[in-house]
Amino acid sequence: MNPTVLVAYATRCGSTLEVAQAVAQDLKARGYAAVVCAVDKVGKLSAYQAVVLGSSVRFGRWLPEAVGFVRRLQAELKRLPTAFFTVHMQNLGADAASRKNRLAYIDPVRAMVRPGAEAFFAGKLDTRRLSLGARMLCKLMKTANQDLRDWSAIHAWAQGIVLSRTKS
Ligand SMILES: Cc1cc2nc3c(=O)[nH]c(=O)nc-3n(C[C@H](O)[C@H](O)[C@H](O)COP(=O)(O)O)c2cc1C
Repeated sequence: MNPTVLVAYATRCGSTLEVAQAVAQDLKARGYAAVVCAVDKVGKLSAYQAVVLGSSVRFGRWLPEAVGFVRRLQAELKRLPTAFFTVHMQNLGADAASRKNRLAYIDPVRAMVRPGAEAFFAGKLDTRRLSLGARMLCKLMKTANQDLRDWSAIHAWAQGIVLSRTKS
């Protein structure tokens, strides 16, 4: 039987879900059985042979439910091959400061479980899907609606992920 990979995601406005779906599609093309599921709908991991986990970023951190998922299931995650991806809009550059800042988004998660692979993808901002407070914040920060997702980069990563065991 083909190994089953859980592609778990946390999203506020849906762009991370769409990335998770693209990743799952590529894993299926590679012969895995891939199941896409929101982090808060996942119970145990006993049905899965590997986990790909993705979250968007708000205020410099993964969404709390994604961090909670790792905290709750860290013992199981440590025993499985894992890959984490992050969807975000700032610190996208190739310079050292951007790289350092984006790597820090998942420091709290990496402290619990060190993934076998990590990726950072430019995301999408659609202020029509935000709460009033978040919309006002984006207006204050003069943040424009845009979709920066690079589907070639996302597919390239998904087609090449080695779902190997973590070292920690
Ligand atoms: C209120 C708010 C805060 C955000 N904070 C950050 C941040 O600290 N760093 C960053 O890189 N992106 C930040 N973003 C951008 C989101 O991570 C990006 O739009 C992402 O694609 C949203 O994913 P989702 O549609 O799955 O929720 C923020 C977006 C919003 C609306």
